[in-house]
Amino acid sequence: MELLEDFYIEELKDVLDAEKQLTKALPKMAEAARDQQLKAAFQEHLQQTEGHIERLKQIFKRLEEPAKGKKCKAMAGLIKEAEEFLSEDAVPEVIDVGLITAAQKVEHYEIATYGCLATYAKLLGFNQDKELLGQTLREEKETDGKLTVLAEGLNIEAAEGESTEDQEGEEETEQSEEREETPVR
Ligand SMILES: [Fe+2]
Ligand SMILES: [Fe+2]
Repeated sequence: MELLEDFYIEELKDVLDAEKQLTKALPKMAEAARDQQLKAAFQEHLQQTEGHIERLKQIFKRLEEPAKGKKCKAMAGLIKEAEEFLSEDAVPEVIDVGLITAAQKVEHYEIATYGCLATYAKLLGFNQDKELLGQTLREEKETDGKLTVLAEGLNIEAAEGESTEDQEGEEETEQSEEREETPVR
């Protein structure tokens, strides 16, 4: 049981760091989102994420352990991929699709982590922890579900976006033709 408790504490430190990384990434994702509902979803999840950190702090306090994170390389990697996607000349129409994909990968990672932690809390007889971890787990699952619904709505928008781009292209061509004509007049 002692080894399990050590593992449990290490994993709590990992997820604390992961959540802290997210509080920095989510505002950027909200800013980059084009769909207003997606933007709002990221902002809402930022608030929830702050709550997740608070719950973890409560658990550390109860364990009489310092609430200190340990660099979560997996979360750093997931966030880095999202940042790379946004920095490479992302086509505007697929920005939201890419953001949702990145966010769902993050949620699934959190769901796996909190699912395990809640189970280990139960094994260790830490019922209060299990309750707190379960609350966070539910919010991560709800967020994941919400993102799926938003993605289903976005596919159509992405397709419409392509036709808008075509129209803009035509306008540009027309304008350049006009410009060419000017010296003749
Ligand atoms: Fe979280
Ligand atoms: Fe989350």
